[in-house]
Amino acid sequence: MITNDDCTNCKRAAIRLGYWKDPYIDLFSKGKPTIERKTPEINRGYYARVVSIKIIIGQFLDYVESQGKQCQIVNLGCGFDTLFWRLTENSKNASTIKHFVDADLHGITSRKIYHIRHRPELLSSLGEDIKFNPMELQSNVYKLIPADLRDTNNLSTKLFNECLLDRDLPTLFLAECVLIYMTVENSNNLISWISSNFTNAFFINYEQINIFDRFGQIMVDNLRQRDVELLDLDSCKDLDSQKSRFTNNGWDNVDAWDMYHVYRHGIPREDLDRIERIEFLDEANLLEQLLTHYCLVIAKKGLADFNIEF
Ligand SMILES: C[S@@+](CC[C@H](N)C(=O)[O-])C[C@H]1O[C@@H](n2cnc3c(N)ncnc32)[C@H](O)[C@@H]1O
Repeated sequence: MITNDDCTNCKRAAIRLGYWKDPYIDLFSKGKPTIERKTPEINRGYYARVVSIKIIIGQFLDYVESQGKQCQIVNLGCGFDTLFWRLTENSKNASTIKHFVDADLHGITSRKIYHIRHRPELLSSLGEDIKFNPMELQSNVYKLIPADLRDTNNLSTKLFNECLLDRDLPTLFLAECVLIYMTVENSNNLISWISSNFTNAFFINYEQINIFDRFGQIMVDNLRQRDVELLDLDSCKDLDSQKSRFTNNGWDNVDAWDMYHVYRHGIPREDLDRIERIEFLDEANLLEQLLTHYCLVIAKKGLADFNIEF
């Protein structure tokens, strides 16, 4: 709960200043949300996270389209992420996505459903045929399901029997700051379950790294003081540990970059020029320090001819 609220508030703070556009995020709030200002390096970090993930998903959708296929997207630990609405507002992508599943613990899905039900701007994108109960929503393309990712049997029932996912369609799994909240056994089990159950899968994991150095330990301690326990620290040791959790669990091909690399090489220069004018950054090394403690990992199972250009 705290983590989703924190993350949503950080995204709102950056959006409010114009780092990127998201007309949907404020709709996941009763009334107009109050937004606390964040430091420029936090805003730039969130910008790099949201924009780089969107670039990679865009490449995946282009690939699927070039194959004349449709795909499925599963947003693991989705929180209040607005990805479905941001992707489908562009009608080109809308027809490429056959199923889009948002999955999180029921405490989050019930809050997310409440907001969707009360906001015509969100509801109107879901089509006519919508079924919901207080925790779960099923529409033609968009589905919001309560699922504890530690329980892959239940996840399997939800994804295959209720959401009717196809094991062979290209399927993108996104986990944005989620796996670290599970034990190493649970996160490995999830990653292995996905590679065993989908023939053409693509995983994007955004998460912490270098967690055992001084700055990393300060991040862990700050969260611990707020009763947020990060459980899978071992996988967040460095880029190699982030990659090996996939190669050891059935994935064919894995790449990983720290966010400092992604910031400098993965985002178009003209976009960086624009956002770097929004706020003055006092100390560039603070940004570098922050960005070298987060990473993007991409893993493929099948999809041999799909390559990310980054
Ligand atoms: C930091 S938030 C990130 C939310 C979203 N991915 C984003 O980036 O906006 C972490 C999310 O993971 C979810 N989560 C943590 N453990 C989970 C579990 N065992 N099963 C399902 N969701 C979980 C939390 O409820 C929370 O919404």
